[in-house]
Amino acid sequence: MKTIIEPFKIKSVEPIRFTTKEERIKILEKAGYNPFLIHADDVLIDLLTDSGTSAMSSKQWAGIMDGDEAYAGSKSFFRFESAVRKITGDKFIIPTHQGRAAEKILFSILGGPGKYIPNNTHFDTTRANIEFSGAEAVDLLCEVGKHPEQKADFKGNMDIEKLENFIKETGVENIPLVMLTVTNNSGGGQPVSMQNVKDVSALCKKYNIPLFFDACRFAENAYFIKKREKGYENKSVLEICQEMFSYGDGATMSAKKDALVNIGGFLSLNDEELAMKCRNLLIVTEGFPTYGGLAGRDLEAVAQGLEEVVDEHYLQYRIRSTEYLGEKVVAAGVPIIEPPGGHAIYIDAKRFLPNISPSQYPGQSIVCELYIEGGVRAVEIGSVMFGKYDKKTSELISPPMELVRLAIPRRVYTQSHIDFVAEVVIEVYKNRDKLKGYEITYEAPMLRHFTAKFKPVK
Ligand code: F0G
Repeated sequence: MKTIIEPFKIKSVEPIRFTTKEERIKILEKAGYNPFLIHADDVLIDLLTDSGTSAMSSKQWAGIMDGDEAYAGSKSFFRFESAVRKITGDKFIIPTHQGRAAEKILFSILGGPGKYIPNNTHFDTTRANIEFSGAEAVDLLCEVGKHPEQKADFKGNMDIEKLENFIKETGVENIPLVMLTVTNNSGGGQPVSMQNVKDVSALCKKYNIPLFFDACRFAENAYFIKKREKGYENKSVLEICQEMFSYGDGATMSAKKDALVNIGGFLSLNDEELAMKCRNLLIVTEGFPTYGGLAGRDLEAVAQGLEEVVDEHYLQYRIRSTEYLGEKVVAAGVPIIEPPGGHAIYIDAKRFLPNISPSQYPGQSIVCELYIEGGVRAVEIGSVMFGKYDKKTSELISPPMELVRLAIPRRVYTQSHIDFVAEVVIEVYKNRDKLKGYEITYEAPMLRHFTAKFKPVK
């Protein structure tokens, strides 16, 4: 088989800025050892997130010019609505400015004290929005998904048995919805199988609980199903997406991922009464129902992006780029979540730095070193992002995994950029004995990873 190439040519370029190691050491110190606080100008290769960082196509830019900015009934809304509906099949399509706005609306209505919302693994914003409403976010990931070194095709699956037990113990009346995150971002960008979607859906129907997808990376998930699940090899990605959404009652979506745009999101759902409540809140917090929190031009770009993302040449290139980075670092012995996920490589910081305990944030240590070594920006997904303090003892309660995510923006970097990233990761791995732990010197009460400050442990 020949090399899988980028299925596009480049029409417009953006220079990246080079810095020296000495400069980066100072920049990082000034940022309190938190790469979220570094100016993007000081980053060479930015793998902080795949969210809102996509390169748009010439047709999306054309859509930007063509956007209809009418306050009500914009033609761009109707194009957006039909592009979303073509994929989800849902009756009510509600634009929001990004994913978390959709979550905020949904959980403000369905959440609240005494409620529990299970998911394979909640992303930080869904967890935060659920907790903000007073409800509890519960992760019920399958066992294999919790073991970075164990290979399996669908490590994002929900543990069906645990879900049923949870429903029985908690009581149907306390579970307003069940969610499935496709792909499972916090668990390594791992896919959920169609069989698992069907099983979760059947269980939800049995207990009469709605099932919602956190659908950010639905196309990547569908491509994995096509490649890995029996019976789907000859179906189109679009058909697989349509089948998946048909088993649910709705979705929250950050269009900043698999709609290939820089801003946008939506709620897609079938229940009319719930849709009306969502729209009423939307008007208060986001905007009129035909634009949500978006400009008409953004709606055009989302509509076009949704058409492009299900293209199988695009998805083949996308999934291969991530796998390519994974293969290179694994060949040098770097421990990662295997197999590689869809949008990112997740370094297993526990195995990378076994001598630094979770309370000294091994993931943060790797993130800092990647920046110093090569100007590569990554993000910690471990005790910094998800750590909690015990209410009685104030001790840190760590999540099951300590990870560093190298998220790959869509259509932005070429193969030589990725080769460079692999070289930087491997260099840091070779020098791992010199890495130090970190302690937190400032933190906010919620989503602390965005603004926390650190210092190296002496
Ligand atoms: N759900 C998942 C699974 C996500 O990955 C994200 C965002 C959201 C919801 C929220 O969407 O950012 O548009 O409000 N993830 C980004 C990331 C931020 O870096 O993984 P948003």
